Amino acid sequence: MSNPTLDLIRAHGSCRRYRPDDVSNEMIESIVEAGQRASTSSNMQAYSVVAVTDAAKRAELARLCGQQKHIAQAPVFLAWCADLARLDRACQLRELEQSSEHVENFLVAAVDAAIVAQNAALAAQSLGLGICYIGSIRNNPREVIQLLELPRLVFPVTGMTIGWPEKPPRTRPRLGLEAVLHRERYNPNQDEALLAYDREMAATGIYEGRQVEIPGRPGEMEAYGWLEHSARRVAQPMRTFLREVLEEQGFLLK
Ligand SMILES: Cc1cc2nc3c(=O)[nH]c(=O)nc-3n(C[C@H](O)[C@H](O)[C@H](O)COP(=O)(O)O)c2cc1C
Repeated sequence: MSNPTLDLIRAHGSCRRYRPDDVSNEMIESIVEAGQRASTSSNMQAYSVVAVTDAAKRAELARLCGQQKHIAQAPVFLAWCADLARLDRACQLRELEQSSEHVENFLVAAVDAAIVAQNAALAAQSLGLGICYIGSIRNNPREVIQLLELPRLVFPVTGMTIGWPEKPPRTRPRLGLEAVLHRERYNPNQDEALLAYDREMAATGIYEGRQVEIPGRPGEMEAYGWLEHSARRVAQPMRTFLREVLEEQGFLLK
């Protein structure tokens, strides 16, 4: 099937090279406003976004987010935050006390933030802009919280660079539908789809034709593909300090 919305969605590719041209304030506002039209849990709108355009601040964010050059290069950085602070204020004004200490409360706000971010991403792309999510905003969350002056009950879930792409972004293949779309019940038998996708990704050249030893067959090599890439990624514990930082921000995750 095809229509302009589906075509826009299908053309997505993360953009990591930007022209130096500015993105107008009007565009930033339209993008965030479009993001706001997303569904939100009980219409609570438990998110906020901090837009950073100041070059020195973007350079500092690039440093805090794993020295990623595209953060300093893109004219706009959006920090999408789970935000229960506004609802704390609503409670104060209505003389109630917010129950924000459970995992559910953080999940509501984090899901809200992610959904609004993706709506905004599509809005930006519809204007011809490129975007890249920046999960590395969670590499040094304390410093990011300080830099952006995020109050208690506000936590940066993901960043996003926005700017004019140097060239149209490349679209990466995705897993076959049979791996992600289950009918009536979950189907755990996905090996065929995974192996096919592994070969498809290796053939794109994204992994630069690297080779890797076949598990259990010493000395025998095969193409480095999505399986090796993803398995290596999840075999390492990541950002193991996040519970502490969340607790410091008032998300107690009980
Ligand atoms: C939550 C999230 C965090 C991400 N963090 C980063 C990041 O820190 N740096 C980066 O260059 N790309 C980041 N990405 C982009 C992914 O690497 C990218 O979406 C994925 O490889 C698929 O490629 P595509 O978006 O070009 O289709 C992130 C994506 C998501 C959804």
